[in-house]
Amino acid sequence: MKYLQLADSVIMEGKRKIPRLKGYSSALQLIGTGRSAYVFKVQDEQIALKVFFPHKTHLAREEAAIYRKLPSGSYYPTLHEGGKNYIVIDYLDGYTLFHYLENGIYIQEEKIYAINEALEMARKAGLNPSDIHLKNIMITSNKQVKLIDVARFRQTEKDRQWDDLQKVYFKGYVKPYFPKRIPRVILNCIAAVYKTGLRFIG
Ligand SMILES: Nc1ncnc2c1ncn2[C@@H]1O[C@H](COP(=O)(O)OP(=O)(O)O)[C@@H](O)[C@H]1O
Ligand SMILES: [Mg+2]
Repeated sequence: MKYLQLADSVIMEGKRKIPRLKGYSSALQLIGTGRSAYVFKVQDEQIALKVFFPHKTHLAREEAAIYRKLPSGSYYPTLHEGGKNYIVIDYLDGYTLFHYLENGIYIQEEKIYAINEALEMARKAGLNPSDIHLKNIMITSNKQVKLIDVARFRQTEKDRQWDDLQKVYFKGYVKPYFPKRIPRVILNCIAAVYKTGLRFIG
């Protein structure tokens, strides 16, 4: 009930792809946004509340159903509650890989292996991990890899983003000459190209 009330306090406005956030409870702190939702930390709790945009609410039930299939407490946050337009999951104290690249913080090879293990776990649970990109992979303050935004794990098409990111990692990133800090505009350009369905790497 409490989380339902908090989710109801989130007011969005407008018909744009990313609706304007008009207001929300003072017990919430905005921590992120993507293509489908605003994400908040709940005050005094290690809990994140993801409230979907009005035209994306169908993803709330879908993402909750997928979290229920995934092994919790490992590479995926635990789902605590699922509602009509929101989900409640563990708050992850950490940063996305996007943040790592933007700030030039080195990403260790072992993190790539951990991500692959996480994806393998999802496949073993009968899912098809998709939408695996820099903003959906986090590393927590105790150095654990966590995958978030699993709403598209039941889509049937193959998503090659992670295959390509891995290639860039092993063929480029690990080499001494490769820049470790990559400006946000360039990272966003690469992501935008993927949204069009095009790929960089054959
Ligand atoms: N559980 C969480 N803990 C901390 N930050 C999170 C959490 N979930 C999401 N975020 C932040 O919010 C952003 C958007 O969340 P995400 O679930 O990817 O939404 P969308 O479906 O709109 O892409 C993420 O890139 C991340 O920065
Ligand atoms: Mg996302």
